[in-house]
Amino acid sequence: MNVTILGIPMDLGAGRRGVDMGASALRNAHLAQTLRDLGHHVTDLGDVPVALPETLDKHAASGLVFLDPILDACRATAERLAALPQGSFPVTLGGDHSVSMGTVSGNARRGQPAGGGGARTGLLWVDAHSDYNTPQSSPSGNIHGMPVAHLTGLGDPGLAALGGGWTLRPEDIVMVGIRSVDASERGLLREAGIKAYTMKDVDQLGITRITEEALERLSGVERLHVSFDADALDPSVCPGVGTPVPGGLTYREGHLLMELLSESGRVTSLDIVEVNPVLDTRNQTAEVMVSMAASLLGQRIL
Ligand code: ARG
Ligand code: MN
Ligand code: MN
Ligand code: MN
Repeated sequence: MNVTILGIPMDLGAGRRGVDMGASALRNAHLAQTLRDLGHHVTDLGDVPVALPETLDKHAASGLVFLDPILDACRATAERLAALPQGSFPVTLGGDHSVSMGTVSGNARRGQPAGGGGARTGLLWVDAHSDYNTPQSSPSGNIHGMPVAHLTGLGDPGLAALGGGWTLRPEDIVMVGIRSVDASERGLLREAGIKAYTMKDVDQLGITRITEEALERLSGVERLHVSFDADALDPSVCPGVGTPVPGGLTYREGHLLMELLSESGRVTSLDIVEVNPVLDTRNQTAEVMVSMAASLLGQRIL
């Protein structure tokens, strides 16, 4: 496969600093070589330009924290991804999870005529958090808690327009690993009818059944994007994250999910986000996330 790596070194959407170094940490953990060893043709496009918070006014005219520079970085990300050749498999490296507003929209728009919207895309959101806040519902004001809502067209009109008219259908979203949902976010999720497998579901049903159900639910989509937030995994596995929540996916549950998705042959793009080297232990989180990407892209035990 032609794998294209693109970094978005942005921590403007998170409440804590340091995820801007996540893309670098993943490269240091030998992401490209690991994927080459699996037989892929890997190209690293480098990073999308992202403004430094030190050079910015936190709340410009809009009121939302760092709205304008986040919008700029997401727009640049979406344009880069939309312009890639049709068959390539993008692996996008955050950065905080607000980058996914750009990655999912750009991947949907690839190969579509200008102004022609986007391909029907399924989103598998692997995360401790549902990230379905709007600017109104958010308790923190941090945009990394809002990407999925904006992808479905809610919230700030500028962020919601990153798809250039295309939006994600709520029925094409499946979340896995969820265990932290804000009070008003819960109502929004329910209203939208988004399918979320919580950690209780993981305990009860197991990853195999969940993956089968998710793929069945997403059987009508043309493309399938996996957005993997490192905090989906348990903090003992991935300590280098800014918003850790106890009781997460085990190392094996993460790999099993990636292995089953890989076997399905359905996944067309991947994000790895929220890796924070400042809070990590000897780059463990980046190394684990590289191994997750390897399982999704064909690594097998035997
Ligand atoms: N729900 C919280 C908020 O809206 C936490 C979001 C954490 N998101 C993340 N991508 N780590 O602020
Ligand atoms: Mn930074
Ligand atoms: Mn997230
Ligand atoms: Mn999260």
